[in-house]
Amino acid sequence: MILEVAKIGHPILRKTAQVVALDEIRTPEFQGLVDSMIETMREHEGVGIAGPQVHVSKRVFCVECVDNSRYPRTPHIPLYIVINPRVRILDPGRIFLWEGCLSVPGLRGQVGRARKLELTGRDRRGRPLKKVVQGFHARIIQHEYDHLEGRVYLDRMRSLKSLSFLEYLK
Ligand code: NI
Repeated sequence: MILEVAKIGHPILRKTAQVVALDEIRTPEFQGLVDSMIETMREHEGVGIAGPQVHVSKRVFCVECVDNSRYPRTPHIPLYIVINPRVRILDPGRIFLWEGCLSVPGLRGQVGRARKLELTGRDRRGRPLKKVVQGFHARIIQHEYDHLEGRVYLDRMRSLKSLSFLEYLK
């Protein structure tokens, strides 16, 4: 089911999301939520989506980047889901690149993100998950993790001067 995406100004985007109990992961309700998050992300051509963005204040996000027209010339990242993620920065060197968000439609801004990180958590079946990623993929994870902490990319911008409607950046 395609869910409504919360946009900036909705208080759920500013709340700290709740940890998901391990025995909740396998319930039909939670699995249905995950399916709907995937569908919603794909519908809006996002490369990631977090629980609070679909009005569910739970620590879960999805990532996928496969021939994405909103983010052309980006690496191929097959779909995965992470529940109760933890992020450990491995290389704090910042890369500044354009970033957007389904909750801030139409806009892009330059955001500095750490180069490399380790992501741990659970997959959608509750099994331990661990990834070491860098570059654009590490950027997506930092962006989605921020949603679970009530932050959006605008909060991470060193200056708002780069903030721009996408149409001016093409
Ligand atoms: Ni976002």
